[in-house]
Amino acid sequence: MSTAEPASSKRELDLGAESSIGELPFPLSIGPDHYFLSRDKDGAYHLLSAICPHSWGRIVRWDNCFMCPDHGWRFELKEGLCVNGPRSRMYTFPVKVRDGQLYAEVPEDKAKWG
Ligand code: FES
Repeated sequence: MSTAEPASSKRELDLGAESSIGELPFPLSIGPDHYFLSRDKDGAYHLLSAICPHSWGRIVRWDNCFMCPDHGWRFELKEGLCVNGPRSRMYTFPVKVRDGQLYAEVPEDKAKWG
């Protein structure tokens, strides 16, 4: 008998053609969910969720950072690292480029995002 937990299922999100992406961080809405596409200092794309890791407020772009208006946590724009609070970061998902198209793998269960 196995006691291992079942692997969390993920869905692949099609983020569109790389050539269609505007200035980064680029806001994206996929179904009811909101994200930002960003790129780190090494050039790797990341998909950052607009759901705040503190208490699920809605993160917005604010001046030169992201900000959650619920309690004021702020995050830098490239990797979503919290800059004014605890060691935290925005929910972040890796992005792959295949044939000029961007894809991100996101766990189906938002409780497993952290
Ligand atoms: S819910 Fe975002 S800072 Fe509290």
